[in-house]
Amino acid sequence: MERTFIMLKPDAVQRGLVGEVINRFEKKGLKLVGMKLIQVDRALAEEHYAEHRGKGFFEPTVSYIMSSPVVAMVWEGKNGVALARELMGATNPANANPGSIRGMYGMDISRNVIHGSDSVASAEREIALYFRPEELADYVKAG
Ligand code: CMP
Repeated sequence: MERTFIMLKPDAVQRGLVGEVINRFEKKGLKLVGMKLIQVDRALAEEHYAEHRGKGFFEPTVSYIMSSPVVAMVWEGKNGVALARELMGATNPANANPGSIRGMYGMDISRNVIHGSDSVASAEREIALYFRPEELADYVKAG
């Protein structure tokens, strides 16, 4: 079983897409083990996107996720990281499969609805940034 970190970005919350995205993850069969609506501060935003420091889009991307509340989640499942990336589609909605979340709902690479970990190592790092171990639920999922 793999865990992955998923963030519904400010545009997803503002546009009322939270339920729609969660629905897709649930229907796919992934298990929700952590979730919270939070306002990200600068320290957390910069840590989250640390690998992009120095790139032109670093500051706008950091500022964007601080601009309004986001939903931070942890989902679990077999090949969970890759499965979530498949559901999300390519980073740039213009290149995303039209049936994917970004392909269906995104218009802009900066406001691309959702963030998901790109590897198991990133998932572990990102989950630890947003959740304490006791905030992650332990239960048996039906189905
Ligand atoms: P995300 O998956 O959250 O990871 C980094 C984010 O930077 C990415 O989604 C985009 O929203 C944002 N971004 C903005 N411009 C670019 C770019 N040119 N290349 C990659 N990511 C970008």
